[in-house]
Amino acid sequence: MEAALQKYNIQQKTGNLGATIEGIDLNIPDEELITFLKNALDENLVIKIKNQSLDRFGLADLVKKFGTPYIHPIVPNGYEDCPEVLELLRKPDDSELFGGESWHSDVTWMKPIGYVSILHAIDLPDVGGDTAFSSTIAAFEALSSGMKELLRKQSAVHAFHWRENREVEPWFCEHPVVRKHPKTKQEGLYINRMFTSRFCNMTAEESAPLLNYLFDHMEEHKFTCRFEWSLGDVLLWDNRFTLHYPINDFSGQLRRMIRTSALEEI
Ligand code: SIN
Repeated sequence: MEAALQKYNIQQKTGNLGATIEGIDLNIPDEELITFLKNALDENLVIKIKNQSLDRFGLADLVKKFGTPYIHPIVPNGYEDCPEVLELLRKPDDSELFGGESWHSDVTWMKPIGYVSILHAIDLPDVGGDTAFSSTIAAFEALSSGMKELLRKQSAVHAFHWRENREVEPWFCEHPVVRKHPKTKQEGLYINRMFTSRFCNMTAEESAPLLNYLFDHMEEHKFTCRFEWSLGDVLLWDNRFTLHYPINDFSGQLRRMIRTSALEEI
């Protein structure tokens, strides 16, 4: 890692997560570069690579170096000629952002879960449209030892449709609330406001007070960072140990992103 650190200019963004890296060409994803990126993700959870020119096929080739890409089973926005890449489009007259505005990690209602997500900007508003991230590792670390002990014994239900009071197969599943990072061995909370409906063996009403406390805790500023976008930027994040939140503050303007994701190897 030392040599790679000298080769690429890596700047940490906050005390808990995030880094920006320069000097990389993602069009040449050789083994050395992919190992460097995986290590950088393990350490920083979210990395921004500047000055890239990738189209959807380049993005699809890149994600395959991290694992098996998935074709989103519900949203219909995959490209016909490249279904593992989704277009996330907010047109000037749309009021909502694609996928909604809430802290979440992607497709937590699936098994295996998503490992890395890669997002590339195609069209950007003049200002705004940042993406915020939160470290679920820093959030877990800050809890009391008693709460950590309690949560290590819990699992939770994740459902795509839970806000409509539905747990529809195959888009719901159970996951342990605390997940251990396979490399760093750090523990992180694996729950999120968008998809986690309840603790297993409890009702949504019984679960809500503690879940809402934990969601509020995970979303505290001190566990977060916020990335501004420039054309050419590519963001990679570890979907297992972060939450993200796209910020909808650019009314009347176009924002078009392309996103792809790889599943965790099990
Ligand atoms: C996402 O929620 O995966 C997309 C984030 C963004 O558009 O900034």
